[in-house]
Amino acid sequence: MSESPPTILFVDDEIAVLKSLQCLLLNEGWDCHYVASSAEALSFIEARPIDLIVSDVLIPEIDGLTLLAKVKQLYPATVRLFLAAANRQINVTQALADGDAQQIIPKPWIDQELKEIIRSALRQSAQQKRHSTQLQTLINSIPLLPALPNNYTQVRSCISGDEVDIEKMAEIICQDVAISTALLHWSNSALFGQRFQVDTVHKAIIVLGTDIVESLILSEAINRMIAGNLTEIPGFTLNIFQKHSFAAAIIARLLIKSLFSSDSDRQDRAFTCGLLHDMGKLAAASFFPEKYSAAVALAEKRQCSLAEVEMETIGATHSELGSYLAEWWALPPFIVNAIQWHHQPKATPVEQDIIDAVHVANLLSHQFDFGLESKIQFSSNTVNQESWDKFFLSEEGIEILRVETEKLLGVICQ
Ligand SMILES: [Fe+2]
Ligand SMILES: [Fe+2]
Repeated sequence: MSESPPTILFVDDEIAVLKSLQCLLLNEGWDCHYVASSAEALSFIEARPIDLIVSDVLIPEIDGLTLLAKVKQLYPATVRLFLAAANRQINVTQALADGDAQQIIPKPWIDQELKEIIRSALRQSAQQKRHSTQLQTLINSIPLLPALPNNYTQVRSCISGDEVDIEKMAEIICQDVAISTALLHWSNSALFGQRFQVDTVHKAIIVLGTDIVESLILSEAINRMIAGNLTEIPGFTLNIFQKHSFAAAIIARLLIKSLFSSDSDRQDRAFTCGLLHDMGKLAAASFFPEKYSAAVALAEKRQCSLAEVEMETIGATHSELGSYLAEWWALPPFIVNAIQWHHQPKATPVEQDIIDAVHVANLLSHQFDFGLESKIQFSSNTVNQESWDKFFLSEEGIEILRVETEKLLGVICQ
């Protein structure tokens, strides 16, 4: 049986716009539908699921901003795009920052560009569908998926242009004392090879590089945002969680460095993935505290890892949940993959070395007693031998990693 074509709903009160879209997309093989009001759009979606919604911003009665915010809340798996005239784009910047819409199609559009944006949105939609229905249901039970905060999107915009604006980046970062302090700590640590005192955020950005700065801000933003709901759970605190994530980031970077000593970009990517690998655990603890506590208790009783009992108690693994959120926030695929496969690296199709490094770093971080699940034991259930063998770890090498990581954590977790 052939797969059914993706369903797209276009919403615009100008009938001429709908007509020209209809002509343009006639032969694309997509199942396109056209409605002239937000109310019609909502009843259409209620009657049948859609993959993608493309809405004009200015629609009488319920406007496009409200419509897409509602679609995001009710049908988070539906990808959302705006059609917006160039002079109206400023109005939708906030909606993009809030994650209500994922992209803007400029109006008037260039035919090829419009088709390309739609194709890429449909790819994203197909990617989301890989997740189990159980996970989709779990995600739907979260009242409103949090969007990435402003300071992160602002920093990202300083990096994404043709020229990186370090001055502006430093200015934004300086407004946040906790992030500024963290950047100074990391930039003065031996992990990034710094031998001289770094005393300003501006210098810290130069020493760390924009990718590392971006990932540190991202992880801090995610932690704050998700941990805002965190209630008391036995054996889980934000501090313990962060210590484990930092340790995994440090170890993953050192492991990749041992294989690719001159590829600092790859080392940085490993660091980022280590830092974010367990974000699904934080999300589960925060959004589903009772289910998460049940998982912790069952893992304790069975003397196994949390990952082994999550399907039973939560209905999804923290890897699935984390990678779903990473996709939701449109993080790069290498991060999504590392989060998704850090417990089963065999299954991964891309960035194998980084995923192997994060897998091993996670296990070592537990073995060294840095953070969560310190009682975890190495067993055939937890270690992927191929990943492990890749790094040629001798007992002496492991001890060096432990000492190095402990020293760095001492600087960072002051
Ligand atoms: Fe994990
Ligand atoms: Fe972990």
